[in-house]
Amino acid sequence: MSSLGFGTLQAGDRSFFTDTDPSEYRKILKRALSMGFKHFDTAYSYREAETLLGAAIKDSGIDREEITITDKIMSVPTLERKAEASLKRLKCDYIDYLLLHWPTGNEKLIYDSLKTLEKLQERGLIEHFGISNFTVDMTSRLSSDFDIAAIERPVSLLWTKDLFTTIELAKKKNIMVFGYSPLGMGILLGKKDFSDDRKNLPCLARPELDDLIKEIERLSLVKKTSKANICLSWALSTGADLIFIGASKVEQLDNLLDPIKLSDSEKLSLEMKADALSSSLVYDNLYGHNWKEM
Ligand SMILES: NC(=O)c1ccc[n+]([C@@H]2O[C@H](COP(=O)([O-])OP(=O)(O)OC[C@H]3O[C@@H](n4cnc5c(N)ncnc54)[C@H](OP(=O)(O)O)[C@@H]3O)[C@@H](O)[C@H]2O)c1
Repeated sequence: MSSLGFGTLQAGDRSFFTDTDPSEYRKILKRALSMGFKHFDTAYSYREAETLLGAAIKDSGIDREEITITDKIMSVPTLERKAEASLKRLKCDYIDYLLLHWPTGNEKLIYDSLKTLEKLQERGLIEHFGISNFTVDMTSRLSSDFDIAAIERPVSLLWTKDLFTTIELAKKKNIMVFGYSPLGMGILLGKKDFSDDRKNLPCLARPELDDLIKEIERLSLVKKTSKANICLSWALSTGADLIFIGASKVEQLDNLLDPIKLSDSEKLSLEMKADALSSSLVYDNLYGHNWKEM
């Protein structure tokens, strides 16, 4: 079964999530560290997140070597400088995994960025590098030319498109799969009335989403557990190496339950509804971004 990591998007992306107040977010990170989370996801674009995470790790007194940090930066000509800035904000000497956050339509820029990541690795500033939100085809091509150590993508019933093809490819090529949004950013739990950018997610308008949420509810009653635990247990059963969960309130961490075992037929019934939702949408990714134009 995959293990669980903690993501820091809620600390400050000012788009998909309403930013959590920094003093509340410090409490969340403190709680996550004391609960034993060892692998954290952050990004250059998550504003205060790197700074808050770096401070929380220092304050916890836990050895840096015991913690794994995955960070993400877009493919940009200034990537090397941004990585150095991220290290300063994290108050760290190295980043364990640095990923290209999103693809762009500029293939030369992606190749140049991966060469920069190789250089950062040679300088000892990053241990490994990888890519996030890239298509299966691009992952396959790039991993033939570079030593891609990890890929990150949704491992979420909200977006199952190409999930198992990606995991299969990664296993063949010895690449780690890091998954995000196991709770579908809260949407899989039935939340719909958002004031942040979640309100624009294309999946919210689909009737297939209601069918999926009903199936999650039904299984939560059958298994006598929470809807969050059904979603999380499914994500942990997919074969991905690690699942990043997020929280905007300390009590959301208190509610984390032990994952349960879902039977093959229970997983299949969830995946059929999830696949119907994903294939009802024409996009390459959960957010409906057209990566060719990014
Ligand atoms: N590579 C990428 O491009 C990418 C993209 C997205 C995320 N990520 C990373 O993956 C991490 C996890 O993704 P995610 O934050 O979307 O994961 P998630 O765990 O699916 O969603 C977290 C949200 O679900 C709600 N929630 C959490 N626990 C709950 C509970 N017990 N009861 C009710 N609602 C609950 C909260 O929404 P409210 O805040 O509304 O309460 C919380 O902010 C992120 O923090 C980020 O580090 C990476």
